[in-house]
Amino acid sequence: MPKTNKWDDHYTARARQEKWLARSVYKLEEIDKKHRIIQKNDRILDLGCYPGSWSQYCVHKVGPHGDVVGVDLQRPTRFSAPNFTFIEADILSLETIWLKKEVKGRRAILSDMAPRTTGVRSTDTIQSLALAEKALEIAVALLEKNGSFLCKVFEGEDFKSFRTKVSTHFKDISIMRPSAVRKRSREVFLIGLKFIQ
Ligand SMILES: C[S@@+](CC[C@H](N)C(=O)[O-])C[C@H]1O[C@@H](n2cnc3c(N)ncnc32)[C@H](O)[C@@H]1O
Repeated sequence: MPKTNKWDDHYTARARQEKWLARSVYKLEEIDKKHRIIQKNDRILDLGCYPGSWSQYCVHKVGPHGDVVGVDLQRPTRFSAPNFTFIEADILSLETIWLKKEVKGRRAILSDMAPRTTGVRSTDTIQSLALAEKALEIAVALLEKNGSFLCKVFEGEDFKSFRTKVSTHFKDISIMRPSAVRKRSREVFLIGLKFIQ
């Protein structure tokens, strides 16, 4: 019998069985099925990529002529692919101009970044928003025309103003809470489609 713990659920078991590196892949899959964010030959930037299930999914979908760059504080040790490049960095201190020179234009920018939660609701929300704001700054600098932005945020007081800010850069915007999000979690995903350059 495989080892289980209190976080094990249907999605964890399925991810293990289907050889995905994390259950969070099903959040991306559900969003992608609805909004067609990742397509063949795309160039993707995956912010907060460890342990690597979103990058794994993207590499599979973009195929050998696309490419995926992942950024995280921690190196994904169980994932590698010829068209996957990893940058080990704290996104909050990474210069957007440097990143743009390094990875060039991107068709989609994804952020599943989450702060190390403290349990203090207001602190966690502020930190989540700081990561989301930085992801947006990067998206605005690196996205190609009509590109897509997908970003996890903890719902809180400033969520509405962030959503408004995102909406100024995209023709379409929507919010999803995929079924793989745990019931007690406050995370939602903001999706910006058709980037206005
Ligand atoms: C929920 S996990 C991402 C899971 C990933 N999407 C997957 O499917 O494997 C959130 C990630 O955000 C990263 N993260 C948090 N703060 C960060 C920061 N300041 N800079 C870069 N990565 C950060 C964490 O290290 C963590 O690996």
